[in-house]
Amino acid sequence: MKLPTKLLEKKYDKKSFDCGYSLLNDYLKTQARQDVDRDLSACFVLVDDNDVVIGYYTLSANSVKRDDLHDDLLKKLPPSYQDLPVVLLGRLAIHKRLQGQRYGEFLLIDALKRCYEISKSLGTIAIIVDPIDEKAQNFYNRYGFILLPTSKKMFLPMKTIKELLS
Ligand SMILES: CC(C)(COP(=O)(O)OP(=O)(O)OC[C@H]1O[C@@H](n2cnc3c(N)ncnc32)[C@H](O)[C@@H]1OP(=O)(O)O)[C@@H](O)C(=O)NCCC(=O)NCCS
Repeated sequence: MKLPTKLLEKKYDKKSFDCGYSLLNDYLKTQARQDVDRDLSACFVLVDDNDVVIGYYTLSANSVKRDDLHDDLLKKLPPSYQDLPVVLLGRLAIHKRLQGQRYGEFLLIDALKRCYEISKSLGTIAIIVDPIDEKAQNFYNRYGFILLPTSKKMFLPMKTIKELLS
């Protein structure tokens, strides 16, 4: 495995990527590069020694509405902010042959570190994720992500990330 994660580039082989979910496979194979070219998201990949992609995640700027947050999260936020800045961890997936070997955790921590670094120079209060199903929700739950009351999105405050990483 070549560490650390790298920005997606043409030279990386994504043809054989299969995480068990066609939505996530197809995104990597057909759309990720276009989204990167259009500055819609950043895509980070984990590649093996032959530059074959074995995992990836995407990050983009996003916001959540005040009304979509739990009251306890809102307590310290001034009422004038209706839309709150967050980073969206849009997709995260590991090739199915390598699932269960902590690569998912490695990618998640890598994403948290990047977001924490970004938050020092660009205000963002949290990372949000949009889990593909209940299994994915359980995965994020293990790392402290909280389900939002009005959607299936999950939320991890930047303060919690700072504590997790320290
Ligand atoms: C979800 C996914 C990213 C996890 O990656 P992984 O490499 O298989 O998981 P890891 O080996 O890093 O597991 C880390 C921990 O999370 C747990 N875990 C992994 N998948 C889990 C799940 N679906 N539900 C609950 N816990 C899970 C592991 O048991 C492990 O816990 P432990 O500390 O008790 O041993 C991966 O299985 C995957 O790509 N799944 C398909 C796509 C997907 O669901 N993406 C997620 C969001 S869209």
